[in-house]
Amino acid sequence: MLTPTGEIVAEARRLGVGAGAFNVITVEHAEAVVSGAEAAGCAVILQISENAVRFHHGRLAPIAAAARAVAELSTVAVGLHLDHVESDELFDQAAANGFGSAMYDASKLEYADNVAATACAVARGHAAGLWVESELGEVGGKDGAHKPGVRTNPAEAAAFVQATGVDALAVAVGSSHAMTNRDARLDHELIELLHDAVSVPLVLHGSSGVPDDELRAAVRGGLVKINIGTALNIAFTGAIRAAIARDVTVVDPRKYLRTARHDMAETVTKALRVLTGATS
Ligand code: G3H
Ligand code: ZN
Repeated sequence: MLTPTGEIVAEARRLGVGAGAFNVITVEHAEAVVSGAEAAGCAVILQISENAVRFHHGRLAPIAAAARAVAELSTVAVGLHLDHVESDELFDQAAANGFGSAMYDASKLEYADNVAATACAVARGHAAGLWVESELGEVGGKDGAHKPGVRTNPAEAAAFVQATGVDALAVAVGSSHAMTNRDARLDHELIELLHDAVSVPLVLHGSSGVPDDELRAAVRGGLVKINIGTALNIAFTGAIRAAIARDVTVVDPRKYLRTARHDMAETVTKALRVLTGATS
């Protein structure tokens, strides 16, 4: 069932577990994430990024409607989140397209400009009924480059939350976007300091590159919403590659998309078991 993201995150925080938020590009991705969550018996967040919307010719409505329909048919709680939104115009379309939450990403701006732009977006988002996440201390690698991570300053993070009214804060603690190797090391001392300083739930981006034991420790340390994208695409694309290699005469896309969706669902199930402490 479609469920407000804020409720899913609040419940995860109450239970001391991670809330898995998985990036969705196509309808098969949405189906995979939801069936993976159903297999794990966990709530889940489907997130569609501004980049994914760009892939759909800049149109939010078709992919949002597909993800929403999949969410509504689910037996577990499913949140719908618009991710890494830099465009004000796109941010303002979120609520009308069924999203319970959005991440307003002004993290590339200088601190004062980030505060001003985010506070304004939060006011508009709250008026529309959205739960709003934002970011302080840019998480590296967004454009594929593996930059050495900037770190979020705890005092600045507390002031940022106070000044903007955000409902959740993405922090830079050592992860990096789009990693295909799981060898990121997180700064657990910093996670603890941020957890003590910041009143709202903390969000980890770039979690595909973080090994399971590091993810468990991050959740124990107070990170709540855990964003995973690349790991799903590794499973999805790997399955397609293998299916086509098995039969190079294949023409019907269902032949390889079925196995891709299946393998992606398994990746989601495994990740949720790690985040919720079902496997240790
Ligand atoms: O916002 C989405 C995520 O931060 C996903 O990052 O693709 O590196 O797992 P990832
Ligand atoms: Zn991210």
